[in-house]
Amino acid sequence: MTGREAAKILLTGKDGLVSLNLFYTGKQVLGPTSLLTQTGEAHKRLRRLIQEPLSMDGMKKYFPFINSLAMETFDNWSGRKVLVLEEASTFTLKVIGHMIMSLEPSGEEQEKFRSNFKIISSCFASLPFKIPGTAFYRGIKARDRMYAMLDATIAKRRNGEGFQQDFLESLLKKHSKDGLNEEDDNKLTDKQLKDNILTLLVAGHDTTTAALTWLVKFLGENPDALQRLREEHLKIQSDREGGSTLTWSEVNNMPYTTKVISETLRRATILPWYSRKAAQDFDIDGYKIRKSWSVNLDVVSIHHDPEIFPNPNKFDPSRFNEHIRPFGFLGFGSGPRMCPGINLAKLEICVFIHHLVCRYRWTPLEKDDSVQPTLVRMPKNKYPVTVESL
Ligand code: HEM
Repeated sequence: MTGREAAKILLTGKDGLVSLNLFYTGKQVLGPTSLLTQTGEAHKRLRRLIQEPLSMDGMKKYFPFINSLAMETFDNWSGRKVLVLEEASTFTLKVIGHMIMSLEPSGEEQEKFRSNFKIISSCFASLPFKIPGTAFYRGIKARDRMYAMLDATIAKRRNGEGFQQDFLESLLKKHSKDGLNEEDDNKLTDKQLKDNILTLLVAGHDTTTAALTWLVKFLGENPDALQRLREEHLKIQSDREGGSTLTWSEVNNMPYTTKVISETLRRATILPWYSRKAAQDFDIDGYKIRKSWSVNLDVVSIHHDPEIFPNPNKFDPSRFNEHIRPFGFLGFGSGPRMCPGINLAKLEICVFIHHLVCRYRWTPLEKDDSVQPTLVRMPKNKYPVTVESL
């Protein structure tokens, strides 16, 4: 389906009309208590628990880590060829590993985490044959190793060792069932905790990696937008007293960058369709939808509707100077399943872009617009560039 009316019906899902339609492989890997597999009241409850540590306020404590990691990342860029997608992937994985369980950005644990995550992430497009040698089997095994890592960390924390102010700790402290309150719906079991930590990793990593890569590519192709963006960031830098680094209040005041992010998500439409399952019979635009049918919302056509976005293939962040009509822009979705990671994603992008445009200019090494045939759309060539200092 396409159009804003279909988007409204499918995404707001009034009166339990639809539920999320997660393909079988995803359900098996993420587990039965993942946010993505829950519906109705259970979904609402779980979201409430997860959303609090992902709020803007909750993000503040991760900002210094994200900022120093971005600076370190760019220290290695000078004068060399870079695959932007690889760099963005490493950056976002280190951020999320730190945010969730205070993983150090390098070392043995980080390597284990990274290699398990890569196997899990690449098994989503596979057929669900649980036979040794298949991608699905390897994915399930890597998921089990990741859960064992989490079990070990949870056990340590419960023993009062290795206290950290991270996402895991906030869930453990406030929400984890300890066997005494099994029937308390406002608490999470260890299984729910692990399924949902994995869900955040999977839902948050490829999407943010893709957004960063497309953003750098679109800027490279649109010198006027790059210049305006750079002016915004150089001004932030020059207004700063004492030559210190980016601050929390600066990162929350980047109006042009915010528009560049929205325009990137519109043009790239990283998740090209949102999939729902009909929970009852209903009509959309005169089409009869039957109970249990899968219905996909085509977001690419909504994001390229010339009535809302004239000359839709042009990259033009100033479109977002105006208010966009409801359900016209769905970069982070809408309704009860709207992305709960929006604050983290925007924070990562703003910090990364700030350091990039203040330090470097880049030149693409290939002219190739092909897109990887995966659920999350990414430049197929990983966007190779050469980098020079400003
Ligand atoms: C630029 C980066 C991101 C984009 C473009 C993005 C986009 C989206 C969209 C469009 C949806 C709704 C899909 C639907 O309605 O079917 C969604 C859901 C979701 N996102 Fe994000 N996301 C991003 C980053 C993140 C991050 C960093 C996290 C985790 C920390 C995250 C976690 C989730 C989760 C758990 C859901 C499912 C929510 C639910 O079913 O209630 N996302 N995201």
